[in-house]
Amino acid sequence: MHLITPTTEHLAALSGLAAATFTETFGHLYPPEDLKAFLLKSYAADTLAAEVADPANYWKLALDDDGRALAYLQCGPVGLPHGEADPMSHGELKRLYVHSSAQGQGLGKRLLTVAMEWMQAVYGKAPQWIGVWSENHKAQALYGAYGFERVGEYKFPVGRTLDDEFILRRVPLK
Ligand SMILES: CC(C)(COP(=O)(O)OP(=O)(O)OC[C@H]1O[C@@H](n2cnc3c(N)ncnc32)[C@H](O)[C@@H]1OP(=O)(O)O)[C@@H](O)C(=O)NCCC(=O)NCCS
Repeated sequence: MHLITPTTEHLAALSGLAAATFTETFGHLYPPEDLKAFLLKSYAADTLAAEVADPANYWKLALDDDGRALAYLQCGPVGLPHGEADPMSHGELKRLYVHSSAQGQGLGKRLLTVAMEWMQAVYGKAPQWIGVWSENHKAQALYGAYGFERVGEYKFPVGRTLDDEFILRRVPLK
């Protein structure tokens, strides 16, 4: 397994992995037509192309030895609706997804560590942010183990469904 920074040649693999991991994790929560529209809007290769090319974003893609995409992360300036979240000076882990076939082997921890290191390299000791679904206990356990604490909540729309999301924050040690 190795981590790469995705480029245009990886967009199809990234798009496929992003749609597959979102669907296997959250797909059961939404009417099929809402899920389809959300996947098209969020993970179409041309949508991802713009986000991958945006220098404010940081991406990593984990590939196995045969080049298959296993997991990915995306970080960038914080966009969460919290009064103390400052997009000019704070980072956010925006996406962290490990394919079900590769979960439970430490990849999530490794990618979270890489994300925290990037946020600290870019934003120094500023707070680091994550939004997570209120019932995603597995991800919350992972984030909690690395010092992320719940400091707020908001609603995340997928079609006509409004998900309850928690806002987590970690302040790197001085
Ligand atoms: C959440 C996720 C990123 C964790 O990645 P992973 O590679 O499976 O996890 P790791 O093997 O690195 O384990 C990290 C921690 O996750 C938690 N965890 C892992 N498997 C778990 C399980 N079956 N049940 C509960 N917690 C579990 C534990 O806290 C674990 O730490 P520990 O091994 O010290 O107990 C991954 O499961 C995933 O992508 N899930 C679907 C998408 C998702 O929920 N993304 C987060 C959106 S905010």
